[in-house]
Amino acid sequence: MRSLRAAEASSEELVEKYLQPFQLSPETLQEVSARLRKDLLRGLGKHSHHKAPVKMLPTFVRATPDGTEKGDFLALDLGGTNFRVLHVRVEEEAQKVLKMDSQICAIPQEMMLGTGEQLFDHIATCLGDFLESHNLKGQTLPLGFTFSFPCEQLEIDKSILIRWTKGFNCSGVEGKDVVQLLKEAIHRRGDYHIGSVAMVNDTVGTMMSCGYKDQSCEIGMIIGTGTNACYMEEIKNVKRIEGEDGRMCINTEWGGFGDDGCLDDILTEFDVEVDKTSINPGVHIFEKMISGMYLGEIVRLVLVKMTKDKLLFKGQISEALGTCGLFETKFISEIEEPDSGLENAKKILTELGLDWSLVDASVVRLVCDTISSRSAYLCAAALATLVNRIRNNRKLGHLKTTVGVDGTVYRKHPTSKLQKAVRLLAPQCDITFLVSEDGSGKGAAMVTAVAQRLKKSCSTMCTKASE
Ligand code: GLC
Repeated sequence: MRSLRAAEASSEELVEKYLQPFQLSPETLQEVSARLRKDLLRGLGKHSHHKAPVKMLPTFVRATPDGTEKGDFLALDLGGTNFRVLHVRVEEEAQKVLKMDSQICAIPQEMMLGTGEQLFDHIATCLGDFLESHNLKGQTLPLGFTFSFPCEQLEIDKSILIRWTKGFNCSGVEGKDVVQLLKEAIHRRGDYHIGSVAMVNDTVGTMMSCGYKDQSCEIGMIIGTGTNACYMEEIKNVKRIEGEDGRMCINTEWGGFGDDGCLDDILTEFDVEVDKTSINPGVHIFEKMISGMYLGEIVRLVLVKMTKDKLLFKGQISEALGTCGLFETKFISEIEEPDSGLENAKKILTELGLDWSLVDASVVRLVCDTISSRSAYLCAAALATLVNRIRNNRKLGHLKTTVGVDGTVYRKHPTSKLQKAVRLLAPQCDITFLVSEDGSGKGAAMVTAVAQRLKKSCSTMCTKASE
């Protein structure tokens, strides 16, 4: 036992050398937050936004729910792990958003990398099948489309894809209006109709679904396959939108932070490698350090290097460990579990065909913990930037606000590190974290419902004005 402990200690010292570049001090996080603060301004600026890596996209969502919304809606959700179709009911009296029915449709990987027409035909087929099997084909319901990619939104129902991120790269969609592509695909079938469409980013859906419960929810954050956040910004600061009064929700697309090289000093060789081998090199550098699509691969690359340097597994790399993508992000949270983590690590290492020792298993735990902690701290730095900005915007000494959150990485990992770090970096802000209940589904319906409420109140006001 003693020699095992001694071996463990000395091996941990060597391991430390590999992990040190992933450990970000509070000062570095403060610096990251300050750089993002500048980038938010670049994204909002009239003349700087074209080249800004953090896009700060206007969403045309001008209000959070006020509790009077109601009706039946369809929702589509594309951009996370699965594609889903939902039927959602918003009930005013009960202040509830109910998921009536939903269906998951797989999108094969070839389709994620195929043509846009194939993708949208597939979406239209899934929607058609859903309407058919739920007897909704005769109705023309409004539709919220959660499309979780950076889009230049011109109206609530006109949304141009800037670029694909995460696992998608379909041809012929970048630069096009996604609502139009959906409508064309539905038209090609010709067997059903949809009502008005509202385009929604998943962060916005998340904020809005939490906003029905807690009206001080003004930030939506996703840490899942990708990472991103939106928040309510003063319209007068969004220089490319006309108007002075009120607020608009801005989809920050913070995943793109660092795409101009401004985070190069904190990137590790493993981050550089993950980016190089991804389907969209150079795009969404910040996201690649944080989100579920990449964390497992970062851990794998570190383990491979340590093994090559004879620090792990007697220097033997198994076929699985040597294969890109086979160390899944979900292994990290399983290995991190406080009670069963070590046992899980042993099981996973065995399944990966590795000849492990007890020391190896605990080193793997340390690697997983370090990389998921960095993810949490970087998110905390970014979130702190947003809450500090909202507080400054409103010239408040102290801000109390709620953040709606979703995504598997947030749900599956301990959140205490993230929350503690935000408190440290934004000491004058008191933040409540509310895990969204299906922001991409119910939230999309909520955005559509709020848009309808505003349209109705605007047309009532316009009629009154002309009377
Ligand atoms: C990617 C997308 C962004 C989305 C995020 C989380 O960063 O570009 O739109 O919100 O993933 O799904």
